[in-house]
Amino acid sequence: MILALINIKQLVTVSAHGDRVKTGKTMQDLGVIENGAVLIENDSIRWCGRMEELSMSSLKDADVLDCINRIVLPGFVDPHTHLVFSGSRENEFAMRSTGSSYQEIASKGGGILNTVNSVRQTTKKDLKKLARKYLNKVLQHGTTTIEIKSGYGLDVDNEIKILEVITELNDEEMITIISTFLGAHAIPPEFTGNKQEYIRLIVEKMIPYVGKKKLASFCDAFCEKGYFEPNDCRTIISEGMKVGLLPKLHADELTAGGGAELAAELGAVSVDHLEHISDIGIRALATTGVIAVLLPGVSLFLNHKYAPARKMIDQGVVVALATDFNPGSCMSYSMPMMMTLACTQMQMSPEEAIVSSTLNAAAALNLSHSLGSIEIGKKADIIVLDIPNYKFIPYHFGENHVWRVIKNGVILEF
Ligand code: NIG
Ligand code: FE
Repeated sequence: MILALINIKQLVTVSAHGDRVKTGKTMQDLGVIENGAVLIENDSIRWCGRMEELSMSSLKDADVLDCINRIVLPGFVDPHTHLVFSGSRENEFAMRSTGSSYQEIASKGGGILNTVNSVRQTTKKDLKKLARKYLNKVLQHGTTTIEIKSGYGLDVDNEIKILEVITELNDEEMITIISTFLGAHAIPPEFTGNKQEYIRLIVEKMIPYVGKKKLASFCDAFCEKGYFEPNDCRTIISEGMKVGLLPKLHADELTAGGGAELAAELGAVSVDHLEHISDIGIRALATTGVIAVLLPGVSLFLNHKYAPARKMIDQGVVVALATDFNPGSCMSYSMPMMMTLACTQMQMSPEEAIVSSTLNAAAALNLSHSLGSIEIGKKADIIVLDIPNYKFIPYHFGENHVWRVIKNGVILEF
């Protein structure tokens, strides 16, 4: 089966020329081909180049998608979300708008524990139904691969319930879903004042089960004052590594806590948030290649400071973007929205924002060998946008410009 995309006004390949990621000045080069074409064979990219170079004989027996006046990009990769949840927290949003802080709301039993309470009362079937609805919208907004974390269960049964929902949805839905175990998201109410006991539950019961049943690829922890200290995270992440779970961290979000330095020490695949990263932390990420996943939607939603993306990129840190889609700190799954924020609030260029949402975002999930750019041999996860050039992605914000989504070589119908 051959599918040909022809007459592409701008083909944005994000070609890495064999590299896993793009850093520094190479992020400015999107490998753009004007008037391009792509040949897809089954689920993979067979060829891409200029229309003039496309041999007409290769179109014989091919399905043809005419992309005239439109642009083509690799599907967006969203490497950090908490998409499996129930309930909503619009009341907390309203409280923040009149001056309460995220931490104040959490200390009164709101925040993460608000959603935990709801998820514990929701059946697996209902959780799945809610998540499926969001995933459909996520695809329509151009995201073809997404990471989803547990962390709203915080006991053995409910953490497993969420991870089973994630892995089953990956089998059943077109979108690729990468699962992350985040048992260390908050201290559950039944362990208040007894954090070490909860950590013991994570280490002795949850992680061995998740590893044995292959319910996740990554293990994450919320490294933050009042949640899990660096020492706690070291224990949890190291235990995860023993059963094959690759390390990630939520770090330096609300306060500077040495989280980036810890991620570098542990050899994490990514460290996420980093609004309060230290200069030492930036250097540690630059030297180790740990990917910084930045979440500007959270800074917008919570009215917090933004991560110092400009400084990180200039110092050679690998930067990726993600939505962090969740009911408490970012109720948006729009990667283009994150790109607009990256440009207007974090001094990233449109080119850097696009690399951070495709190739580098795939690398944050250890998948950039097969995803994140339009190059021969990679998976045919491709989006067609109804805009005149790629700069319109961050520029014309608040509207979904996606015209077609091609996942694993198949044009999706919505
Ligand atoms: O990534 N920072 C910790 N966890 C989530 C927030 C989840 C919530 O508030 O429900 C985050 O922002
Ligand atoms: Fe998060």
